[in-house]
Amino acid sequence: MTATISVAGPKIRTKLPGPNAQRVLENDARIISPSYTRSYPLVAKRGRGVVIEDVDGNEFLDFSSGIAVTSTGHCHPEVVAAIQKQAAELIHMSGTDFYYESMITLGDRLSKIAPMAGPHRVYYGNSGAEAIECALKLARYHTKRQHIIAFYGAFHGRTMGALSLTASKPQQHRRFSPLMPGVTHIPYPNVYRRPEGTDADEYAVSVARFLEEKVFATDIAPEEVAAIFVEAIQGEGGYLPAPASFMREIRRICDKHGILMVCDEVQSGCGRTGKWWAVQHTGVEPDMITIAKGIASGMPLSVCLTKAEIMDWVPGSHASTYGGNPVAIAAALATLDVLEREGMKNAEAMGKHILKRISKWPETMPLVGDVRGHGLMLGVEFVSDKAKKTPAGELRDKVVEYAFEKGILYLGAGPNTLRIAPPLIVSAEQCDIALDILEEAIRAVAALHEKGAKVGQPSGA
Ligand SMILES: Cc1ncc(COP(=O)(O)O)c(C=O)c1O
Repeated sequence: MTATISVAGPKIRTKLPGPNAQRVLENDARIISPSYTRSYPLVAKRGRGVVIEDVDGNEFLDFSSGIAVTSTGHCHPEVVAAIQKQAAELIHMSGTDFYYESMITLGDRLSKIAPMAGPHRVYYGNSGAEAIECALKLARYHTKRQHIIAFYGAFHGRTMGALSLTASKPQQHRRFSPLMPGVTHIPYPNVYRRPEGTDADEYAVSVARFLEEKVFATDIAPEEVAAIFVEAIQGEGGYLPAPASFMREIRRICDKHGILMVCDEVQSGCGRTGKWWAVQHTGVEPDMITIAKGIASGMPLSVCLTKAEIMDWVPGSHASTYGGNPVAIAAALATLDVLEREGMKNAEAMGKHILKRISKWPETMPLVGDVRGHGLMLGVEFVSDKAKKTPAGELRDKVVEYAFEKGILYLGAGPNTLRIAPPLIVSAEQCDIALDILEEAIRAVAALHEKGAKVGQPSGA
């Protein structure tokens, strides 16, 4: 059975936000934490496949997948059926204190598709940050080393440990210090912004070598480093893929110094890039991966998957009451069925379909400096001056807002990139509709910007 829904396109019936949405926004402003970042006032009511209906009956195409979560689309019938069946049988029995078989079934299933040779072990949590906390604690426990290396631009979550690895936006750290000690951030390669005239691979390797040539040479003894946490495609950093040469060099450094290589696949994993894991595009085998978001189509579940010999901690070292909840695991097993059967292949095909159309945009479209990514994890970087590559975050935001008003849900990523990340069951027809509107949005924002720039020019200039 395929979940792909053919639609004529978004249906916007009211001014946005509509009257019901307006009421929700007012109440939200009264009671909900103001720390959340909302790009535009979408008030969701129902979802089916790629379509989200809001509280005023407007229908949108979701090209953000609830931040790369609804991998099988909204409310995929097989996932819904699995959740309903499990909820009627057993909702909770804390797998950290008792046993239930589906924890093993999912573990074995993930072991079969892991990006490194087995045997493996799994730890279950509820969120991406919890999978990172597990990897962080386990890396220290197993290696008996303290230091952790992470990258500028990385986003690994917001709990104190995960936040210490995150270096994405200053607001995420502001007034929360001191964070966890022992974390050192180093540069992540950005091929689009590499020094003029340099070879992409040589540049990427030189970025990785900073670790040995500077950090290990002047600051930290490598034998005290437990792990390097890396995203094979930086997600919140701007949908930035790391070249394979960079990942190979990180692997070499890890092997040389007995450091664990942890790939954070929270956003890039579960078939989104056309392979199960983004790191598989680089040919590198990590020691551990962290999984969340797309694994259970929206049910809270995360996994830290490691080579078995690394998970050598003893009872009492780490656990979580809800981690690996039976309902979330049932959703994950159904999700993997859908992804294995059609979603991952479709992500690859639709990624190619979209790239065919947008890869020339840096030459043909205003404001677009770079287009990159794999499968359905694609980024469009906005610049106000293509020669100088001047980041244009505000213009990106305007494009995102324009598209929302026309019925397509996009989200930004990083300072000035727009992410294209629809559910993996999206159809070519839906991609074409979403790209038509994106093109329209970019041209409209560029025209306004151009006009504004002219108005702003000093007379006689
Ligand atoms: C790569 C990566 N790691 C970790 C996280 C944190 O996940 P969560 O928000 O579920 O804690 C995110 C969330 O965006 C992420 O993109």
